[in-house]
Amino acid sequence: MQYQHTPVLPDELISGIQVKSGGVYLDCTVGGGGHSALILQKCELIKLVAIDHDQMAIAAAQVKLSEFSDRLEFWHGNFSQYRPKQKFNGIIADLGVSSAQLDLPERGFSFRDAGDLDMRMDQSQTLTAADIVNDYAEIELSKIFFELGEERYSYRIARAIVKARPLKTTVQLADVIFHAVPRAYRYGRIHPATRVFQALRITVNQELKALETLLQKAPDWLEVGGKIGIISFHSLEDRIVKHRLKEDDRLRVDTKKPVIATEAEVSVNPRSRSAKLRIATKLEPLG
Ligand SMILES: C[S@@+](CC[C@H](N)C(=O)[O-])C[C@H]1O[C@@H](n2cnc3c(N)ncnc32)[C@H](O)[C@@H]1O
Repeated sequence: MQYQHTPVLPDELISGIQVKSGGVYLDCTVGGGGHSALILQKCELIKLVAIDHDQMAIAAAQVKLSEFSDRLEFWHGNFSQYRPKQKFNGIIADLGVSSAQLDLPERGFSFRDAGDLDMRMDQSQTLTAADIVNDYAEIELSKIFFELGEERYSYRIARAIVKARPLKTTVQLADVIFHAVPRAYRYGRIHPATRVFQALRITVNQELKALETLLQKAPDWLEVGGKIGIISFHSLEDRIVKHRLKEDDRLRVDTKKPVIATEAEVSVNPRSRSAKLRIATKLEPLG
């Protein structure tokens, strides 16, 4: 099976959470297993629990991390629903979709090649992007595109989609969006469908809600002195991470500013361009 994903900010994340011998770690988003492998390679006495709600990601990570199988446990599900059996010395989450998910047209995340409008990270869930695109009211679509895609032509795009229904594939949807926006906007830095696709993906997978829940629960899963490191890829996520870590009296923020990729990393892994890493440490309980 093809499951390619290059981990972003690898050194920054691993050194930031101070992986130590004998530690137990939680990777909330194992994906292709890149970050987990780096943690497990640090020392033979490290144990790790790896979560993903994409069954394909779990299967790929099981292969990639097979040499560590005796100190590795997988949990298939949404990290917001996880119930730990022990405390951790470090917790990581590398949010969003993996390159592998983006590259498979049948997953429906990308409009590069035609695929069904799916976008589910967890394929056992029922709601797909097609349900939203074909069934939601125009006003609801417009709100989603504006709030979760920060798309300034949200209203025009929503109207064009409703007119063109039913839409079946990613490429059809991208084409409708392309023709709905002003000419000058069609050939900008990013394809005019990019923001709408982001908004649909966030909606299908309830991504912001899951992140809020994780940030509320995860500090209790950490040992005192343990670290949490979160990598986000767009401003809506980063805003949540920044504020929740800062407001949390169980934590002390280690990163005054988010850690970003070096030019060298961006040149070999363009996906790292928008990555922002924030780290915090679990404090002694008050009182
Ligand atoms: C960017 S990839 C992680 C890549 C990984 N760090 C690596 O080095 O290969 C994000 C992964 O997180 C998973 N994911 C996103 N949100 C999730 C959630 N709420 N619960 C569980 N897994 C989630 C996705 O299915 C995807 O496989």
